[in-house]
Amino acid sequence: MEIVILPSPAEVARKAADAIEQYVRRGPAVLGLATGSTPLGTYQELIERHRNSGLGFGQAQAFLLDEYVGLPAAHPQSYHSVIRDEFTDSVDFAAGAVHGLDGMAQDPQAEAAQYEERIAAAGGVDIQILGIGTDGHVGFNEPMSSLASRTRIKTLTRQTRKDNARFFDREQDVPDHVLTQGLGTIGQARHLLLLAMGAAKADAIAAAVEGPLAAICPASVLQLHPHVTVLVDEAAASKLTHQDYYRDTFSRKPAWQGL
Ligand code: GLP
Repeated sequence: MEIVILPSPAEVARKAADAIEQYVRRGPAVLGLATGSTPLGTYQELIERHRNSGLGFGQAQAFLLDEYVGLPAAHPQSYHSVIRDEFTDSVDFAAGAVHGLDGMAQDPQAEAAQYEERIAAAGGVDIQILGIGTDGHVGFNEPMSSLASRTRIKTLTRQTRKDNARFFDREQDVPDHVLTQGLGTIGQARHLLLLAMGAAKADAIAAAVEGPLAAICPASVLQLHPHVTVLVDEAAASKLTHQDYYRDTFSRKPAWQGL
């Protein structure tokens, strides 16, 4: 796990965009996209690079991490709509190249199983962007999710519903249930890019990076993955015990190694 502490959220967005750009320029890339507010700066950065420096997504495919159950794709807060509005409609993905879970599926279990098959058929995810919930969730894998879980239906915690209420008119409008890639599914992506900004994420980042591997902090499962980059601003890094070590190591990293 590589921990990179950056001076500002804008620097986190730039560095995350650098990592993603590297895959997109290399050939047909499969991107794992997250929603929530954390990756918005990264998406803005990628949109600017598309407009100003010819970064093309025409060969790429994308898979969303999760979706609310009960929201049709056209609902403004469905993750299908959010990712279109915030990113994919502003670049040049081919029609049908952006995949998400169907929150209205009659049979959510079958939908989850098919989604796993679609990811596998695309050759797996090259780079997966992840945010982190204040309770340490990734995707919508709430505490006590199996560290080996696959895509499935989950019930949101009250904390997550509260955290996400800002996107809805009222807290009671936040759906109770979601479909989410499992922690085992996420762990099959070849490179995981975990982003966090702000003091509200400091406890979750400390638990994920330096705490024990434990289902109480789902993001701690990233410790098992061979290629994880954690990009955090100063505030999100503030509760890490070994900040000096991370800064020192990154400052002396040879440029040719990349992320
Ligand atoms: C949400 C999403 C996650 C996201 C996390 C943090 O509920 N399902 O994918 O990473 O919680 O959200 P935010 O980035 O808005 O803080």
